[in-house]
Amino acid sequence: MKGVILAGGTGSRLFPLTKVTNKHLLPVYDEPMIYYPLKTLVGAGIKDVLIVSGRGHVGHFLELLGSGADIGVRLSYEIQKEAGGIAQALGLAEHFADGDNVTVILGDNIFEDNVREDIASFKTGARIFLKKVYDPGRFGVADVDERYRRVRNIEEKPRIPKSDYAVTGLYVYDNSVFDVIRTLKPSGRGELEITDVNNYYIASDSMSYTILGGYWSDAGTFDSLMLASQLVKRKKTGKDRISNLPPLVAAYHK
Ligand code: G1P
Repeated sequence: MKGVILAGGTGSRLFPLTKVTNKHLLPVYDEPMIYYPLKTLVGAGIKDVLIVSGRGHVGHFLELLGSGADIGVRLSYEIQKEAGGIAQALGLAEHFADGDNVTVILGDNIFEDNVREDIASFKTGARIFLKKVYDPGRFGVADVDERYRRVRNIEEKPRIPKSDYAVTGLYVYDNSVFDVIRTLKPSGRGELEITDVNNYYIASDSMSYTILGGYWSDAGTFDSLMLASQLVKRKKTGKDRISNLPPLVAAYHK
């Protein structure tokens, strides 16, 4: 199993914080954001990780993380020339994957759970990781048939969500994902959508899912960046009782 961290994009929702630096280098509590997805992959037992980022920033990741030897992984770097969406960025990992399965994580996604078992038990098709949230319309939303343990469909940022289950930015695919990406057409926002990739696996009945028990947050907006820091601080320091947390953070703990 290979690991891919997608750390491109312009981070426009965090402007001016991202005017001269990459979103994934901003602090989440006491560490640069990218440390967290990297630790999620390392914690899952993955030893080979590709970091995909824009041309102007890839050198910063190299300076920060080097070869990865310090943390026991082998790091590779790839440049995404244009901001063409998550699926387009993943397509750049085909050579790196070299026929292997891939676990993909978005560089601004912060997970509490250890997903080693879910990744170790993966065989073919695809697997997504769902989290119950209070604001599903901000995300890809999974319509789940819990009785038969199957996902019926995923909608990207629906106006009327069919469930409270956000599709988090952690995905496991077998090597056929690169053929699937080649069939995609750009969406309304001009991007190759990871949700279209996932709906392909759902339609071919080869999608499985895990519901996460621990906290999860993205960190791509001012509020979610602050939320992520507070969740991490609470975990690392053991301080901040739920009753003392701001409402947003407390909502994620229900
Ligand atoms: C992306 C995906 C979305 C997913 C989210 C998780 O959205 O398109 O399905 O729920 O990441 O962070 P974006 O943050 O690019 O709008």
